[in-house]
Amino acid sequence: MAQELTILGLESSCDDTAAAVVRHDGTRGTILSNEVIGQDALHAAFGGVVPEIAARAHAEKIDLAVEAALAEAGLDLAAVDGIAVTAGPGLIGGVLAGVMCAKGLAAATGKPLIGVNHLAGHALTPRLTDGLAFPYLMLLVSGGHCLFLRVEGPDRFTRLGGTIDDAPGEAFDKVARLLGLAQPGGPAVETCAESGTPGIPLPRPLLDRPGCDLSFSGLKTAVLRARDAIVAEHGGLPVGLRADLCASFQAAVADVLAEKSRRACADAPVTAFAVAGGVAANRSLRAALETVARDAGLPFVAPPLALCTDNAAMIAWAGAERLRLGEVDDLTLAARPRWPLDDRAAPMLGSGKRGAKA
Ligand code: KG4
Ligand code: ZN
Repeated sequence: MAQELTILGLESSCDDTAAAVVRHDGTRGTILSNEVIGQDALHAAFGGVVPEIAARAHAEKIDLAVEAALAEAGLDLAAVDGIAVTAGPGLIGGVLAGVMCAKGLAAATGKPLIGVNHLAGHALTPRLTDGLAFPYLMLLVSGGHCLFLRVEGPDRFTRLGGTIDDAPGEAFDKVARLLGLAQPGGPAVETCAESGTPGIPLPRPLLDRPGCDLSFSGLKTAVLRARDAIVAEHGGLPVGLRADLCASFQAAVADVLAEKSRRACADAPVTAFAVAGGVAANRSLRAALETVARDAGLPFVAPPLALCTDNAAMIAWAGAERLRLGEVDDLTLAARPRWPLDDRAAPMLGSGKRGAKA
């Protein structure tokens, strides 16, 4: 196996059509290109991702994303050492579009095909950005995912806990909808919370139970009840109280994520505490998690936002890590809507609007 590997990655598991070229030099990675074609405008009228629309858009755009990624990297296909593709978990139509495209490229060029678990892509990103050594703790918090993982190797993950219902990003989006704020809800709730105080009592779900599992659906319902009580009392939702509700919701999410992270940090020795996913962009959540890491004596690693949210550079990198181990797939590679990273752990419950959880 050559010391240096240049990998083309494809990602299409939710609502971003992405392609990237990443070079693995034996220890660190260099991103040569990272193209993302978003679909927000296509889904905006529906209040969430419509799987059929997403699948069609991926099928239309994935080859354009590949062309753009190769052009930006200044390479042609002959110069890459392998083709990595998200093979799950995710919305099946989109995953299929990526897998079919990657198979076509692999068949035409004879290059190795590497199927990558989307969650492994997120979980291995701190090695691409910061060269983290195994084992490290990863909290993945996005619109479709919420889980604590001990990352022990490119193919070895232990799930320490995760949501038993909604992902936190889904909860932010639903709360924004309840309060008449824009989508995506996370940034809107965060901005609104800045002028509020977190004085409205809301539950801290599952804090009374041992372990690292989380739940967000009851919290969202509690926000709904609090909103209805305010509306009944004031005949509407005053701007100041809306800000207080946002601040109170955000504080509740921060409290549960921080306490569960504290437990996960104490679970077994790790080299660092890393976060990924769109929700990790939230400044007050990030500050709470950073404090947990500091108290546990661990470095806190949060990759830049463009690499925390869905992208193909993480897929190319995870593909490179697998290829270095000599792991390749053949043209029978299947698209998997559900694909738990840790198949020893009990299956997670629920499936969010943004795609299948694992
Ligand atoms: O990782 P991501 O871009 O996409 C996937 O879910 O795959 O995460 C998107 C989610 C959305 O639910 C969005 O509302 C949430 O991340 N989000 C935030 C913030 N920015 C994005 N949640 C809380 N605070 C934010 N600043
Ligand atoms: Zn993702």
